[in-house]
Amino acid sequence: MQIYYLPDQQLVESTEASTLLEAALAAGIPHTHVCGGNARCSTCRVVILAGAEFCSPRTAAEAALAQQLRFEPTVRLACQTAIAQDAKITLRRLSLDADDLELMLDQATGKVAPRFMGQEKNVAVLFADIRGFTTFSEALPPYDVIYVLNRYFQRMAEVINRYGGTINVYMGDGFMALFGVDHPDRAVERAIRAGVAMLEAVEALNPSLENLYHQRLRIGIGIHYGGAVIGTIGDPKSPKMTAIGDVVNLASRIEAANKKLGTQFLISQAAYDQAQAQVIEGQRFQVAVPGKSGEYALYEILGVQPTIAEDDWQRRSLLPTPPPMGMRQAIATFWNSLQKIF
Ligand code: FES
Repeated sequence: MQIYYLPDQQLVESTEASTLLEAALAAGIPHTHVCGGNARCSTCRVVILAGAEFCSPRTAAEAALAQQLRFEPTVRLACQTAIAQDAKITLRRLSLDADDLELMLDQATGKVAPRFMGQEKNVAVLFADIRGFTTFSEALPPYDVIYVLNRYFQRMAEVINRYGGTINVYMGDGFMALFGVDHPDRAVERAIRAGVAMLEAVEALNPSLENLYHQRLRIGIGIHYGGAVIGTIGDPKSPKMTAIGDVVNLASRIEAANKKLGTQFLISQAAYDQAQAQVIEGQRFQVAVPGKSGEYALYEILGVQPTIAEDDWQRRSLLPTPPPMGMRQAIATFWNSLQKIF
């Protein structure tokens, strides 16, 4: 067998080792194995970058730990993984120093939530931003700015969650949401339906803002679809999932293009290709995007076809059922009438 170890950049050839851990130790690679190879610590975990087909299935002990720590399929315990004698695989050790070791032990003992070490997935990336919020906020006391932002983000989060997405990053008055991380089914369509519902939610919010502040919110939305590496970052005690990749950068620039093109909602060609039958499109543009070479086709979204999606998603019990519309409208009406009184 041939095993190429990263980040050591060391090729190990062995005819005797029965597991990845044994092969590494025999070659002098400092492969961490706190529990001595008994599938009880997870510190020997590796990510298989190539040749996963040569690896043995998980043992029962590994399978239990993998479920507990939510391993991706490519993450294996080196002490439990045998490989075929004619195999060639490439892997990366994940515990390299004392900090890694501490983190893995904390995860194994449940002190901190397991991290996703990173996995490439096709996702729909939605960026949204409030147009002219600096001007809007300059006219208001800071407490009121916080109040408006909280109302806005609360409404947006409700909409994003309703369509099976998650808001992963907040940036001032903007945010990034991902669709398709856990459920790839119709990720782009759900993102677009969420975008349309966001515009409607902002319109529903605006009467109360006009009442209170004599101003309206207007937002811009951009969606792109493609492969990104999804992983968790930040403090291990409260890790945040995020996406890294060109799809994220381009989605952000598509959102920004709304300003120049005078639109509110734009999607990329890749997103359009995925959900063409479900959208009501407006103008098409062929534009240069800042920081990117060449021109990109962008599609303005005016609405969505009145079929499927929301009810279907709720029927599958993947999402919480939103309150009945009648109740929501009653609450909104009550809220608006209170504002008029006070
Ligand atoms: S050495 Fe502990 S799980 Fe492999």
